[in-house]
Amino acid sequence: MDSPSRICIFGAGSVGCYLGGRLISGGASVRMIGRDAQARQLHSCGLTLTGLRGNLEKVRAEHIDFVVDNPQAATGAELILFTVKSAATEQAGRSLAAFLNAGSTVISFQNGLDNTAVLQRLIPQCTVLAGMVPFNVLSRGEGVFHQGSEGRLMVQRDLALAPHLAQFSAAGLTLEQRDDMPAVQRAKLLLNLNNAINALCGVPLKAELSQRNYRRCLAAAQREGLRLFSAAQQSVAALTAVPAHWLPFLLEMPDMFFKLVANRMLAIDPLARSSMWEDLEAGRTSEVDWLNGELLRLAARIGIEAPVNQRLLALIRAAERGGRRDWLANELLAQLRRAA
Ligand SMILES: NC(=O)c1ccc[n+]([C@@H]2O[C@H](COP(=O)([O-])OP(=O)(O)OC[C@H]3O[C@@H](n4cnc5c(N)ncnc54)[C@H](OP(=O)(O)O)[C@@H]3O)[C@@H](O)[C@H]2O)c1
Repeated sequence: MDSPSRICIFGAGSVGCYLGGRLISGGASVRMIGRDAQARQLHSCGLTLTGLRGNLEKVRAEHIDFVVDNPQAATGAELILFTVKSAATEQAGRSLAAFLNAGSTVISFQNGLDNTAVLQRLIPQCTVLAGMVPFNVLSRGEGVFHQGSEGRLMVQRDLALAPHLAQFSAAGLTLEQRDDMPAVQRAKLLLNLNNAINALCGVPLKAELSQRNYRRCLAAAQREGLRLFSAAQQSVAALTAVPAHWLPFLLEMPDMFFKLVANRMLAIDPLARSSMWEDLEAGRTSEVDWLNGELLRLAARIGIEAPVNQRLLALIRAAERGGRRDWLANELLAQLRRAA
């Protein structure tokens, strides 16, 4: 039997530590590269991975190979899972490029539409594939990472994945190979439009999505996105039980009907929040430019306005500078309706 491939997680934060921990538990040889604060946490507490169904996996500190801020440590890895936030892609990709062997495979498990293309340009010697993480991961401190919602990892179909599939299966992380990753990424972006709304409202995702006026905000942002994709003749995959075009109608239903019809959408841990909320909480620049901002760039290219997403982006920018993050549902909806 071939020896298992060496996997490197580059940018081991919430998603990276969670995926890395699951792969280590499944027996893979994993090296994580990330920041000092994360390394200290993992070296003193190990990794604890929790899930929606109460499942729990532990990885002891001595089984964790975590290197701080050194891209050279990726040398020799056959598979690199790239998990930095979009704002760091250019710099992180550039720093990594010199150390990756020709023929290695890189999967960008990032949100947004153009991270893969940026990495393909920066690391031409590798096969760079688009990936998608459908679930939410929350870092709870002391090495605890919680998967707050469900779904299967997706990745661009490619023969280069073949040597690595067994390791993902052993970790219980089935990789669904897709031929339509751009459409998958657009659909994920439409779902991620909720990141800004969640970051602005100050309550966890489940509490937010249980309120019709917050859902109306999301529906307005998604409708605008769908209109833009349709005008640009760009397809959107179905990632939920209903097609993307029906989601805004579903979101706008009264609370009682929404809870009945969309119980899977509300199958979220009561404490889970969007990673944009985490960014604002930690005083970091958010990914809004790669989500709502992506729609604004498309709107500018095809000459259509996108006032709802423009307003959301402006409110996040203001929040990054210390502005409000406690918008009530009716207040936020009024802001978006006024903009539109
Ligand atoms: N969290 C979720 O629930 C979730 C779910 C699905 C998809 N995603 C997507 O997955 C991607 C990663 O998200 P995340 O929440 O895991 O982000 P994160 O927690 O911020 O993790 C990224 C880590 O990479 C570090 N990093 C950045 N540049 C680096 C470099 N050059 N060398 C070493 N480390 C570096 C960051 O440190 P600094 O902060 O110091 O730069 C951070 O610790 C994003 O695109 C996000 O949208 C997230």
